[in-house]
Amino acid sequence: MRAQRASKPLTVRAAAKINLHLGVGRVREDGFHPLDTVYQAISLHDDLTLSETPEGDSLTVLGSPYVDLRDVPTDASNIALKALAEVSCGVGHDVAISKQIPVAGGMAGGSADAAAALLAHDRLHDLRQPDEVLLSQAARLGSDVPFSLVGGTARGRGRGEVVEPVEDHGGWWWVVVPAAVGLSTPDVYRHFDRLHPDAPETPASAEPLLAALATAEPVRLARVLHNDLQEPAIDLRPELGTLIERGEAEGALRGMVSGSGPTCVFLCDSHEGSMAVFAGLSATYDVVLPALGPVAGAHVVVS
Ligand code: C5P
Repeated sequence: MRAQRASKPLTVRAAAKINLHLGVGRVREDGFHPLDTVYQAISLHDDLTLSETPEGDSLTVLGSPYVDLRDVPTDASNIALKALAEVSCGVGHDVAISKQIPVAGGMAGGSADAAAALLAHDRLHDLRQPDEVLLSQAARLGSDVPFSLVGGTARGRGRGEVVEPVEDHGGWWWVVVPAAVGLSTPDVYRHFDRLHPDAPETPASAEPLLAALATAEPVRLARVLHNDLQEPAIDLRPELGTLIERGEAEGALRGMVSGSGPTCVFLCDSHEGSMAVFAGLSATYDVVLPALGPVAGAHVVVS
């Protein structure tokens, strides 16, 4: 019955993530790396609009001018369509994605689209599945997808898919600088393996980061930001090191590579501070985006 009813489109918003702490251990037998990470969702987002159709699945993708859509597949290999293939039983869907999150940027843009598709499907068909069900569907699609559902600030363990919200009393001002050309996450992990063949099995603990988060003091947080993928990312793209130095010279408390990069993020002490860093970096870099964190995980914005 449901398949014959034209359903009203529904739009879900899902945010970009950054990693405030990314401890990476020695590669596991399944090819993934054990992580101890702290994710934060920030105010750059993709919107995914879903409607039911009697035809097969279709996908259109639009993006902000700086988003390079050439690397976003529009066939069944798109992660949003993969998510729908996992959960929908024979019903066709029209999917329209509007992207603000840089592609292959280390900000979980694909994961955000997968999370948005899972939630949109659940709500469009009024399934109202328990969170645990959506989270396990998400984990099958990718390591960062469960966090894209949860949002806020959360610790991630396992390969990143075991997510637990953490105390965060701050409202943090960030400046984001995407790169014109993306980096492949597996390439950056492989380069980490080359640089650190003797990496410990247990990744660097996120505890110091969690303690700083609870103080809500940007200067404290800046001191403990940590990313084990920064070194391999900069080794592959030396210009990221120059960008980080420049942002810190413009007044950021700390600059760092976001996840596997190449996007870099700069923690600032205040709104005014972030505007100064924004203005300083904009003199040289074409795309500079102020952002605030934490923000909500995937949620319905239009139904
Ligand atoms: O889980 P996801 O599909 O996002 O991972 C993409 C790739 O990133 C994996 O195939 C793997 O090469 C690498 N990865 C990893 N360790 C993790 C997460 C991702 O090596 N914890």
